[in-house]
Amino acid sequence: MEGLDPERLPRHVAIIMDGNGRWAKKRLLNRVAGHEAGAESVRAVIETARKIGLSYLTLYAFSKENWQRPEKEIQALWQLFRRFVRSERPRMIENEIRVRHMGDSDGIPQDVYAEFQALIRDTAHFDKLTVNLALNYGGRHEIAQAARRFAEEVRAGLRAPEEMTPEVLGSYLMTADMPDPDLVIRTSGECRVSNFLLWQIAYAELYITDTLWPDFREAEFVEALREYQRRERRFGKTSEQLSEERLAPPV
Ligand code: FPP
Repeated sequence: MEGLDPERLPRHVAIIMDGNGRWAKKRLLNRVAGHEAGAESVRAVIETARKIGLSYLTLYAFSKENWQRPEKEIQALWQLFRRFVRSERPRMIENEIRVRHMGDSDGIPQDVYAEFQALIRDTAHFDKLTVNLALNYGGRHEIAQAARRFAEEVRAGLRAPEEMTPEVLGSYLMTADMPDPDLVIRTSGECRVSNFLLWQIAYAELYITDTLWPDFREAEFVEALREYQRRERRFGKTSEQLSEERLAPPV
C-alpha cells in the first residue's frame, strides 16, 4: 500500500465508529440511513485491513451505553447487524477472516446472536485477520468482570490475592490472547475514549479525525496508518534511549 512501511504496521487497530447520525442529518436522511452507510464502511475497513495484512481489528459497534437510544433505532441496528452477518459471511470465509465477539450477549436479540455465533464458530480456525466486534461492550464492565472472576478463584482456593499483577488482570480480559491495540482511531472529531478498551489502550496512539464514519473508507484508513507510522512510540522512555536501542544489535 502506497506510503506504508510493511515492517511497521500496527498489529492491532481499534476503531470507535462515530458520526453516522450526523452524516445522515447533513443529508436530511434518518439516522438509520447513516448506520446503513456506516455498515458499508465496516465492510471497507475490514477489506483494507485484510489487504494490508493487519492481524487484529476491533470495531466498537454497540456500547453498553447505546441501550439508552430510542427503541426503534436499537431494533434497526440489530436488523442491520443481522443483514451484515449474512451478507459478509461468504467474504469472511473466502478471505479467511476470524470473527469474534467482545461484550455480553444479554439483550442482543436471540436470533441475531445465534447467526453471529455461527459465524464466529465457522471462522474460528482462520488466522489471517481477527475482527473483534465489540457489541454490548463496556470497558469498565469488562474490568469489573475480570476482577470478579479472579476474586471467585481466590475464594475457591485456586488463586492467592498477591498473585494479582497487571499481566494477570490482562489475562482475565476478553482480549487475553491478543496484543494490546497499537492504534485507536475515532471518527467524527470527538476527543473521548467512551469506555472502550480502557485497560488495553494504556500505550495506544490515538488518531482522531473529523471524517464521519460513513465517509471513512480505505483512503482515510490508510492515512491513519501513515500518521501512526510517523509517530514515535516511547513507552515512557526518552528519545535517546530509543535511538540507542535501535542502534544496538539484536540479542
Ligand atoms: C455511532 O454513530 C455509531 C453507532 C453507535 C453504531 C455503529 C454502527 C455501525 C457502524 C453500523 C453497523 C455495524 C456493523 C458492525 C454492521 P452515532 O449514531 O452516534 O452518530 P452521531 O454521533 O453523529 O449521532
